[in-house]
Amino acid sequence: MKKPYYEDEFGMLFSGDTKEVLDSLPASLVRMSITSPPYWAQRDYKNSGQLGQEQSFKEFVIKLAMYFDSVERVLQNDGTLWVNLDDTFYGSNKGAGGKSNKQLSNKGSHYTIDKGNKGSILENARTFQTLQELKRKSMCLIPERFAIEMIDNHGWVLRNDIVWHKPNAMTESAKDRFSLDYESLFMFSKQPNYFFNQQLEPAKEESIRRAKNGWNGRTIEEGSHKGMSKWMGSQKAIDSVTKGRNKRSVWSINTQPIRGLNHFAKFPETLITTPILAGSNEGDIVLDPFFGSGTTAIVCEKLKRRWIGVELSQQYCDEALNRIFQERTKQA
Ligand SMILES: C[S@@+](CC[C@H](N)C(=O)[O-])C[C@H]1O[C@@H](n2cnc3c(N)ncnc32)[C@H](O)[C@@H]1O
Repeated sequence: MKKPYYEDEFGMLFSGDTKEVLDSLPASLVRMSITSPPYWAQRDYKNSGQLGQEQSFKEFVIKLAMYFDSVERVLQNDGTLWVNLDDTFYGSNKGAGGKSNKQLSNKGSHYTIDKGNKGSILENARTFQTLQELKRKSMCLIPERFAIEMIDNHGWVLRNDIVWHKPNAMTESAKDRFSLDYESLFMFSKQPNYFFNQQLEPAKEESIRRAKNGWNGRTIEEGSHKGMSKWMGSQKAIDSVTKGRNKRSVWSINTQPIRGLNHFAKFPETLITTPILAGSNEGDIVLDPFFGSGTTAIVCEKLKRRWIGVELSQQYCDEALNRIFQERTKQA
């Protein structure tokens, strides 16, 4: 087993390449995994070996799914894997690469080229012209291609494609399409049957009213709603709606500002709270294989889960640890 960069009773952080680190850990170690891997050709974290800088998005999708084979091995058989991924517009001449306000705030930028950036993303951009995998400006559909690769060729079961709707997403400069204000959060399991704590949300006012007062006073004798009139108004119906309904799969959550951090793609804590509650119990271990600024650890500690993180950049490891320690002081 590789030596952790940091370890205590709450968690363990490894500094290095995710695949190399995970392949050195014992199998079936974690209950669930949640992460946001680098998006393709959007941000340069300036570390050799980083994912997301491949010349072709097809190569990126294949490589990313292979990284998740290593996650699969350390995940318990009844475990779930949650992956937040965003798309890129092919070869557009604007947007990502430098630290624009959009990236710093994680409010969304989906382009492949920054004319002013002399880094590897610009190199990628040049290659795009040669590869011409798609026509310029087309969405690449990377999240969808990744999900298909995972279920077709890597044995995962895809159970949800959750839409993370960002109400505070910035308006984009494009005037020939609609502004994007969502990202995908996929929930995969290893097996058809898996560990899941059902999550509830408040039922609609109208459902509560119906349960209490009956179906508009009408009786329903025929069709698929037959029997509903008896159910509505019963104590069982009232108990069932007041408890709440099964949580839906479009989640409206604002992006969170990042104060004093170099890292520029932080998860909002609320986005990962529900998955962690659904996919684990108190005391379980949760893995984030692309740890970034350590949001997963912070939420895990609030929810009394243990955590394992892997992060390529030592600078981000240090920043994440500082953030975790500061949060512990706040909570104490
Ligand atoms: C989108 S960020 C994760 C953000 C994180 N969810 C948060 O809340 O801060 C992706 C991270 O993956 C890291 N990364 C890229 N390639 C990696 C690799 N091969 N092994 C480990 N980490 C890698 C990057 O340094 C970056 O910090």
